[in-house]
Amino acid sequence: MKTPEPKKDRKTRTAIFANSKGGVGKSTLALLTCLGLASRHQNASVELIDLDSQSTSSDSLQRFANHRFSVINDEHLFLASGSPNNGNIVNHIDSEPRNSEKDSFLIFDSPAGSEPARSSFLLRCNLIFVPTSVSDADVHATKKYLRSLQDLFDRQDQQVSEAGSPAIVILPNMMDSREEYNELRQILADKPVYFGKPLYFSTLFRRAFRDEENDTNVKRLMLDSAEYVDWITSLILNGDTLNGAEEKLYQL
Ligand SMILES: Nc1ncnc2c1ncn2[C@@H]1O[C@H](COP(=O)(O)OP(=O)(O)OP(=O)(O)O)[C@@H](O)[C@H]1O
Ligand SMILES: [Mg+2]
Repeated sequence: MKTPEPKKDRKTRTAIFANSKGGVGKSTLALLTCLGLASRHQNASVELIDLDSQSTSSDSLQRFANHRFSVINDEHLFLASGSPNNGNIVNHIDSEPRNSEKDSFLIFDSPAGSEPARSSFLLRCNLIFVPTSVSDADVHATKKYLRSLQDLFDRQDQQVSEAGSPAIVILPNMMDSREEYNELRQILADKPVYFGKPLYFSTLFRRAFRDEENDTNVKRLMLDSAEYVDWITSLILNGDTLNGAEEKLYQL
């Protein structure tokens, strides 16, 4: 008989999808990743934490929830202003894994307009995923967002951090060709962050999370994106092998 591993070997892995720009795919990628983690790690618990105080996405996602996958939108995670309640979010991260038998994955989805300066809990995530398309507006906002993340990290460095910085991974999304992907890599070449695999534009995403009979749409999407989901879920599993910072863009 297999003896259960002791609690200290159980791990919580934390990732956030973040960009101050709206419509870059944060919620889509967060859900795709959670469903991917839940289906690939049958003995783990997966939490999708919606940091939008208006809970725009979590309401429609509740139907995916089961005993291993929960969708959380908890008012204690926000301040009255709608900004994240950093203390409560860090307590929540520290309280995992709740079940000593299971690994746990905490995946945060964040709303447009979030500011790193008000989000010190970001420093406690293992991975910060920053989705962007190659459009001028998205690239401009993404560069600005990376600078504010860097400011947050720099301020933290003055205190001594024992956990190390989170790894920042750009997620090129809605790509329409390999050329476009290369173009985005060129544009961001001097940024000291990781550059992820491309997710191509697909009309399947448009109706991805609609409530269809038997979830045919979701199944089709998961099949269609299987290779991408394999990549992103194993990155989360092995996130501690990435260094906090590279000197310039590092393609994964
Ligand atoms: N790879 C893709 N191909 C085609 N459409 C996509 C892709 N990724 C996301 N979309 C679509 O783009 C729109 C915006 O995506 P999503 O809501 O995930 O962005 P977001 O960053 O969470 O936005 P917000 O900041 O408003 O919360 C959605 O209609 C989604 O279906
Ligand atoms: Mg969203």
